[in-house]
Amino acid sequence: MRALVTGGAGFIGSTLVDALVARDAEILVVDDLSAGKRENLPAGVDLVELDIRDTAGMAKLAAEFRPDAVHHLAAQIDVRTSMADPVHDASVNVLGTLSVLGAARDAGARAVVVCSTGGAIYGDGAPLPTTEDEPAEPESPYGMSKLAAERYTRFFVRAHGLPALVLRFANVYGPRQHPAGGAGVVSLFCDRARSGGRPTVFGDGGQTRDFLYVGDVARAALASADRLADGRLAGEVFNVGTGTESTIVELAATIGRIAGLDAGAFTPEHQPARQGELRRSCLDPSRGLAALDLPAPTTLADGLAETWAWHNTRL
Ligand SMILES: NC(=O)c1ccc[n+]([C@@H]2O[C@H](COP(=O)([O-])OP(=O)(O)OC[C@H]3O[C@@H](n4cnc5c(N)ncnc54)[C@H](O)[C@@H]3O)[C@@H](O)[C@H]2O)c1
Repeated sequence: MRALVTGGAGFIGSTLVDALVARDAEILVVDDLSAGKRENLPAGVDLVELDIRDTAGMAKLAAEFRPDAVHHLAAQIDVRTSMADPVHDASVNVLGTLSVLGAARDAGARAVVVCSTGGAIYGDGAPLPTTEDEPAEPESPYGMSKLAAERYTRFFVRAHGLPALVLRFANVYGPRQHPAGGAGVVSLFCDRARSGGRPTVFGDGGQTRDFLYVGDVARAALASADRLADGRLAGEVFNVGTGTESTIVELAATIGRIAGLDAGAFTPEHQPARQGELRRSCLDPSRGLAALDLPAPTTLADGLAETWAWHNTRL
């Protein structure tokens, strides 16, 4: 099986690459290394350094490699960057996705998995845990560009018969998420625990998130590609989450415990709440779990233990 992974040198993409290696897949990673790193990839995996917006370059690569499956993860992922530079955000996330979809179609891919966001696509007032039936009401340019990418994916399914589906991830955490990017609160807190600092919490810390272990994301992506290749589930949109809400202060306390720190030594430092941040977010994963025949998501305690072990040895 040949798999093309855009954004494969990034946090989630490289975890998926590991899972594909375990299946003996032939893998081609396309990444411009704007955030990803070559060293995230196992030895022997081919990486082409290319901007996915290079439509001709993408088409040529896909035509030569002829992937069975395309996993599209390359993206501008930072909500605050999207607010500061919505043109760049839309360029990568919308035009880049169009370039990937076109290349996948022309190369005859049998499965195209497009990665989107559950955390930034539903509105603040959506009932929790949020199902896929809730309307998309993105509050940031990032959420809007991801929604546009989803709609273009559906268009390619309808108009061109592309075997594609969309996965909407909750807040993903795990090994290889780097604290430097500022994106992942788990990674930032682990970094603080390791360096003897205290976790910075914006606002009262009672805001909630649905923390999803990266291994569960890789499993969902592989299961999606398998079913698409069997002629099933094209055009579907699935949440990938845990259905469990955790507050940021609970998260800090759990990481402090796993790191073996005294509760007093790892109390949050509070900063003013950040504008535009959702108060609560939690995805209902049941539809995707059933359709993709996936096991129950990793518990936060287990996933954090894995993540802490990685931080403790690697950073
Ligand atoms: N991390 C999360 O919590 C989360 C949540 C919801 C959705 N997602 C989605 O999952 C996907 C992967 O996210 P991640 O957390 O692994 O982020 P990441 O930044 O680690 O990975 C993105 C990868 O895309 C590459 N990239 C960016 N722009 C590119 C371009 N123009 N051309 C080629 N490559 C480019 C980067 O170098 C990076 O390796 C993204 O589509 C993101 O929107 C992530």
